[in-house]
Amino acid sequence: MHKLVEHPLLQHRLAILRATETDSKLFRELVREMTRFLAFDALRDLPVEKVSVKTPMGEAEGVKVSGHVVVAPILRAGLGMLDPMLEILPYATAGVIGMKRNEETAEPIPYYLNLPKAYPDSYVVLVDPMLATGGSACDAIATLKKNGFGRIVFLNVIACPEGIARVEREHPDVPVYTAAIDDHLNDHHYIVPGLGDAGDRLFGTL
Ligand code: PRP
Ligand code: URA
Repeated sequence: MHKLVEHPLLQHRLAILRATETDSKLFRELVREMTRFLAFDALRDLPVEKVSVKTPMGEAEGVKVSGHVVVAPILRAGLGMLDPMLEILPYATAGVIGMKRNEETAEPIPYYLNLPKAYPDSYVVLVDPMLATGGSACDAIATLKKNGFGRIVFLNVIACPEGIARVEREHPDVPVYTAAIDDHLNDHHYIVPGLGDAGDRLFGTL
């Protein structure tokens, strides 16, 4: 399952994010804001439990987000989405997945992994702004599953048909929420029109 989140506040920011002249500072701010909009849509099924609270006027029924929530960025570019997620999920823990594409083949090369312990109710929010061939996302999801995490949702800023198809084929249980489904991948496995290299733009290493 994938969902294109088309809210105008998200799409307005996406256009600025893509622009070549957008510098790293603005790029980071936009990724931060866009992550919150994506999360708002993607995390509708976060587990909750009922609570009742006393108001100055009486008693109100409410809910409290419950369970073990893990935010898992794929390094490097996913780091830009970690803080905004932890801001809206302050009780969540973080797990980090280091993955670098081979520049020739686009095969993901894992180089770091630090995940919290998995529980039966663990709910993982995997974050990475780019879904190109789908290699990194599929590897990251497989790693999470191998480490005992069953429930995973993937938040992404720009995807393409190839990447979405691969995640849906290899991990049909993982929903993908994205702000864009671009046209195609070029011969160097970059998304067109995309935004270039998200890690480089985020960290100023162009
Ligand atoms: C980018 C991006 C994704 C990956 C997507 O990372 O952040 O993780 O490419 O491409 P894929 O779908 O073809 O796997 P990259 O490997 O460039 O590393 P970086 O974030 O450290 O720059
Ligand atoms: N990674 C990026 O950062 N950009 C792309 O277009 C593809 C992979």
